Amino acid sequence: MTPSKVANILAHPPQSPMILPSIFGADFMRMGEECDSVLKLGAEGLHIDVMDGHFVPNLTMGPIMVKWLRRRYPSTYLDVHLMVNDPVKWLKPFADAGANNLTFHSEVSMGRKEHDERKLIAMIHDLGCQAGIAINPNTPAEAIYPLLDQLDLVLVMSVFPGFSGQSFIQGVLEKTRVLSKKIRKTTSLQMDGGINEKTAPEVIAAGCNNIVAASALFESKDRRATLAKLRGN
Ligand code: DX5
Ligand code: ZN
Repeated sequence: MTPSKVANILAHPPQSPMILPSIFGADFMRMGEECDSVLKLGAEGLHIDVMDGHFVPNLTMGPIMVKWLRRRYPSTYLDVHLMVNDPVKWLKPFADAGANNLTFHSEVSMGRKEHDERKLIAMIHDLGCQAGIAINPNTPAEAIYPLLDQLDLVLVMSVFPGFSGQSFIQGVLEKTRVLSKKIRKTTSLQMDGGINEKTAPEVIAAGCNNIVAASALFESKDRRATLAKLRGN
């Protein structure tokens, strides 16, 4: 269940874009300190990249990481990005662990009845979480048009998922502009992959109010300055 102490930052976003550091880019040996550092500097929440070794060629972390994050941060927004082939199986474990938002990929549901996207979104809402859908760089915006009235978050991937530290794919900006005009005012438009001080202004100009950053933030020597620049300041 969604912890009641957590503010719904998607419904009440800050004036400038919210920044959700991806803990995939943190030093895993110092995970607590790393998260403390970015949250103390004002990051609005944490982004948790879940990879299953099938949907993407990498493995990361499971519900236990969300459980420990929730124990350490009772009121922090936890945004879970599911890069997995079987999201149905993982919705409840991540919701029970304390996730606030669960985002699954549009590409896993294409042509597979058991992954009907409307059902998945309803399942996420029934679990007390917000629901997001992600599209890869080569998936057209039209793929999710029929779902826009149900979504709390739309994630436009600006790299092919699987690894942090990849280069930003400029070509996704055009569909982002289109989506920013089509989504409801209450839906958050998120971008993830290759966002740094140089690319953030373009991401914001395209209409995103929700920015994920791993390497740009965790590898920065001045995280405070980088956070400000990621917000477009
Ligand atoms: C990519 C993940 C991203 C990733 C971003 O597969 O979904 O969240 O951690 O890393 P950077 O910001 O380094 O591109
Ligand atoms: Zn991600």
